Amino acid sequence: MIDVLVDGLRDVREQPAWTPMPEEVKARLRSPPPREGLGLEAVWAELQRWVLPYRLGNVHPRFWARVMGTGTATGALAGLVAAAMNNNLSGLESSAVHVEAQVIEWLKGLMGFPASASGLLTSGCSLANLVGLEVARDSVDGGVKAEGLQSVPGRLVGYASEEAHSSVARAFTVLGLGNGSLRRIPVDAEFRMDLGALERAIDADLRAGLRPFCVVGSAGTVNTGSTDPLETLAEIARERRLVFHVDAAFGAWAKLSPRLAGQVRGLERADSIAFDLHKWGAVPYGVGCVLVRDAEAHRRAFQASAGYLAPYPRGVSAVEYAGHELGPELSRPFRALGPWMAFQEHGLDRLREAVEKNVEQAGRVAARIRREAELELTAPVPLNVVTFRYRGRELSDGQLDALNAEVVMRIQESGVAVPSTTRLRGHTVVRLAIVNHRSLDEDLDLLVDAVLETGRAVAREGG
Ligand SMILES: Cc1ncc(COP(=O)(O)O)c(C=O)c1O
Repeated sequence: MIDVLVDGLRDVREQPAWTPMPEEVKARLRSPPPREGLGLEAVWAELQRWVLPYRLGNVHPRFWARVMGTGTATGALAGLVAAAMNNNLSGLESSAVHVEAQVIEWLKGLMGFPASASGLLTSGCSLANLVGLEVARDSVDGGVKAEGLQSVPGRLVGYASEEAHSSVARAFTVLGLGNGSLRRIPVDAEFRMDLGALERAIDADLRAGLRPFCVVGSAGTVNTGSTDPLETLAEIARERRLVFHVDAAFGAWAKLSPRLAGQVRGLERADSIAFDLHKWGAVPYGVGCVLVRDAEAHRRAFQASAGYLAPYPRGVSAVEYAGHELGPELSRPFRALGPWMAFQEHGLDRLREAVEKNVEQAGRVAARIRREAELELTAPVPLNVVTFRYRGRELSDGQLDALNAEVVMRIQESGVAVPSTTRLRGHTVVRLAIVNHRSLDEDLDLLVDAVLETGRAVAREGG
């Protein structure tokens, strides 16, 4: 199995970036479990026949949809080791707990957080945002934890830009605040939060008797890779006594590079930050991280006491890093092993080079798009996200939306590459998020060629 999987990664360039699933395959994957076991060899044959060929494709050098990390063969081995150890990081002493604590220490250092801060590895950035915002909510009103929001006088409201990730609004829903309590602040021409509009929104809410409690900055927005002015946001949060949380899902990794770190300056001033390791951290899904400056507030928000969870000075319950008291999960897998192996195998310099290379590639694609008369760049490219559209000639905006969506679907179905789409300022655009150490410059050229060719073909067919 290991040989097939590692060879598959080695030869991934020869395979389609994505393969649509035939009905026959979907039907097969709806069949009930057998009464009698088939044996491992038969199951492995099933896997190779019905599952592996239809993997998503984010391991492929030409996959740039959403914001997908590519992972590595080492990461796959880390998954195997972690599963064989089958550690449960739920407050019991073991080497895995210390590995997670060590990885958290590394990450605090990289992100400029103090040694006194706390951190937790989560399933991804959505959960990391949720944890950060729960700490924010509870630290504003200690009564919430026991009595719920019903006990809190005045409605709590928070702020994030219109471009903030959907997981921030979802965290507001899960936390019982309601996603309407997340005020969406307009952005400027570069898709960064308009700070004048933020101040006006806070003032309006205060006049209306509401209780502003937090502001969420974005470091690398999902749509365009823009970063809010984090230093000024930190100032505003301090003056207004708001908790300052930053969603830095992939932007956090700019911190590794002296060349790029200026873009996310101020990240280190946040009360909490959320980011992913399964994006630019070179590990497979799913590992995210939340760092919280006030370790005591973090623990207070999630600590749950129960007789069977009591710590003791010796034995298996004498645990030093109690991750199960820093988030909603009790049973937790050994998420830290992938990053622990990747950081040591590659070293920080190689991780930095991979980030810098992707950002350079994004700049190169943007330059090519600017040169192509039939293409239009639809947002600045500060980091690794490129948005653009096929314009052709004499097509209306309505026609262009449908045309660009069709172009993206055709390219995906062809297996040549996997871009995705988004909506920017009311238009459907083609979007590439380059988080892929396997991508070469030629791969991106091929994609631009494919958009031009497919755009012309669709336009010829009448949009
Ligand atoms: C800016 C941003 N925030 C949050 C998330 C959610 O992260 P995850 O999918 O790891 O939960 C993403 C995902 O791409 C993202 O780009």
